[in-house]
Amino acid sequence: MQNVGFIGWRGMVGSVLMDRMEQENDFANINPIFFTTSQAGQKAPTFGGKKTDVLQNAFDIEALKNLDIIVTCQGGDYTNEVYPKLKAAGWNGYWIDAASALRMNKDAIIVLDPVNQHVISEGLKNGVKTFVGGNCTVSLMLMAIGGLFEKDLVEWVSVATYQAASGAGAKNMRELLVQMGKLEKSVQAELADPAASILDIERKVTQEMRADHFPIDNFGAALGGSLIPWIDKLLPETGQTKEEWKGYAETNKILGLSDNPIPVDGLCVRIGALRCHSQAFTIKLKKDLPLTEIEQIIAAHNEWVKVIPNDKESTLRELTPAKVTGTLSVPVGRLRKLAMGGEYLSAFTVGDQLLWGAAEPVRRILVQLTQ
Ligand code: HSE
Repeated sequence: MQNVGFIGWRGMVGSVLMDRMEQENDFANINPIFFTTSQAGQKAPTFGGKKTDVLQNAFDIEALKNLDIIVTCQGGDYTNEVYPKLKAAGWNGYWIDAASALRMNKDAIIVLDPVNQHVISEGLKNGVKTFVGGNCTVSLMLMAIGGLFEKDLVEWVSVATYQAASGAGAKNMRELLVQMGKLEKSVQAELADPAASILDIERKVTQEMRADHFPIDNFGAALGGSLIPWIDKLLPETGQTKEEWKGYAETNKILGLSDNPIPVDGLCVRIGALRCHSQAFTIKLKKDLPLTEIEQIIAAHNEWVKVIPNDKESTLRELTPAKVTGTLSVPVGRLRKLAMGGEYLSAFTVGDQLLWGAAEPVRRILVQLTQ
């Protein structure tokens, strides 16, 4: 049984990963060892019924060197500090990472096996040791419309995202909820009075949202009752945000198309959902296929994608963060040809940002390496 070290297992992505590993009984196949950046020597957790020893120091290169596989959800700073030291110390195990730090390294594969098992299998054959989970919007896009890419039908994709607070972190999720609560509280009396003017209510809410005391430490702006059309830092050469750039760079790397890339670009927006990212796509197809055929291609790609009929009832029932949160399901709906012509397809998808968007591809590569 292989020794698998876990770092960052207590954070948001790490906790979702532990949950999924327990659900799938993955701990039965490994010897887990839990690391910590701050509490070495304290009692280690028990997952999947496996008793472990005390928490190990996550910066102890000698301890890490004994591992066959390291799984980290600790974040990019940890990866940047520890990975080069371990490599320099001659460690040759498998490094599985949820953070973005190593994604574009030429020796690393971005894992999303329902989409790029061919790239993963080829990499394993060639001795690749570093496997990194993709950006959440990219992974969720490819789970949704991977069939169109697989059949080489995509000329380009323009995407508008509607990204949940969880993508920014646990503190941001709290801040969103506090903001929502404060807005509601500011007009509680008026809401209880059916005769109160809605424009007066709106004015009070807006005033609260703009007040100096309104909590925006994490987002830098109001998100509850508003939105933020900016995610991550500016790339001055193109005017894209880094999140927008990832759509292009990571999609093509995942698909193994970096030498002959498909243009993917768009606008990434933070909205007040908790943990589901949604995306609206405009897709230029290479040919004008009937919509029914397109739906079949999308639906047949993997066992989690689900085509939602383009009607109001199905859309409201199936194609919302409220429905999808906490599930592995990746619904795709609002499928129709656009007025620009038969090669222009519209689609909308919703996916759990912490499952297929983060923990699940990481869990699945670990399973592949430990079977
Ligand atoms: N960068 C993403 C976001 C989450 O801010 O929503 C991580 O992939």
